[in-house]
Amino acid sequence: MLVAVRAAGINPGESKIRTGELRERWPATFPEGEGSDLAGVVDAVGPGVPGFAAGDEVLGYTNNRASHAEFVLVEAGEIVAKPPSLSWPQAGALFVAGTSAYALVHTAEVSGQDIVLVSAAAGGVGSLATQWARNLGATVAGLAGPANHAWLRGFGVVPVDYAGPDLGQRVRRALDGRQVTAVLDTHGPQYVQLGLDLGVHPQRIATIADFTAGQHGAKVVQHYTVASPRVLTEIAEALASGDLQMPIAATYPLSDVRGAYRQLEQGHTRGKIVLLP
Ligand SMILES: NC(=O)c1ccc[n+]([C@@H]2O[C@H](COP(=O)([O-])OP(=O)(O)OC[C@H]3O[C@@H](n4cnc5c(N)ncnc54)[C@H](OP(=O)(O)O)[C@@H]3O)[C@@H](O)[C@H]2O)c1
Repeated sequence: MLVAVRAAGINPGESKIRTGELRERWPATFPEGEGSDLAGVVDAVGPGVPGFAAGDEVLGYTNNRASHAEFVLVEAGEIVAKPPSLSWPQAGALFVAGTSAYALVHTAEVSGQDIVLVSAAAGGVGSLATQWARNLGATVAGLAGPANHAWLRGFGVVPVDYAGPDLGQRVRRALDGRQVTAVLDTHGPQYVQLGLDLGVHPQRIATIADFTAGQHGAKVVQHYTVASPRVLTEIAEALASGDLQMPIAATYPLSDVRGAYRQLEQGHTRGKIVLLP
């Protein structure tokens, strides 16, 4: 299908592919396209594609680094119907962040009995993982800068500043001494180590950002392993119903894609930054 893109989220992984940080895993030859998240309107449907017609509003992804564009070709299994009440920026930004949060919560097997620690709790993935764990009934502590603490409290999340000494002790104090039972890491190795230091069983530590965490017995999560129409639909419906909220930190026209990445690369985005072609 050919989709006219209305909104496309940007992700730190794309910056890392560009700088070569992920070249072992995701080599790149430039110039090349960028972007996997997308939402838009079906422009044309190839022969034998069931279930979609020109004019349908859809959301999903492409695996071809190609969604930061006015038009993108997608396979049928890569898109689902966009709920009418979901905004274009949210629909266009939900794939990577949403599937990452989904995979973290399911990999760590979070339940209502858990006390969960989420790192980068207000970021693109962290903001959704935090709410997801809380929606399951878990008690959630979120590591974030002070500017995000009131926002996290609004979701019933216990905020803890990641900067400064004695982070483990401050987490324990913030949770009134209750034992953390699961960690969802969306930032990096120091938080896998923090989970281990807090006495969390390694199998209950899931990370999207520390690919070496397996050496400690923790679980490394890749968002694309859970990508399916069923999961995309579940995330889209949770956002459309308000069960999950995805803050949109900023939108940029496609012509200012550089500005969008400059903001993302500062590393303090609350929620998502989205391109609007
Ligand atoms: N493996 C996968 O499948 C997969 C999928 C998606 C993403 N990722 C990776 O996961 C990471 C997060 O992605 P994202 O889209 O959520 O990124 P993001 O939205 O750019 O994350 C921004 C957040 O990081 C927080 N932060 C900055 N410095 C921090 C620190 N020293 N300690 C704790 N938090 C800090 C910020 O918190 P404050 O603003 O509160 O300071 C901000 O909320 C990236 O490394 C990305 O490449 C991996």
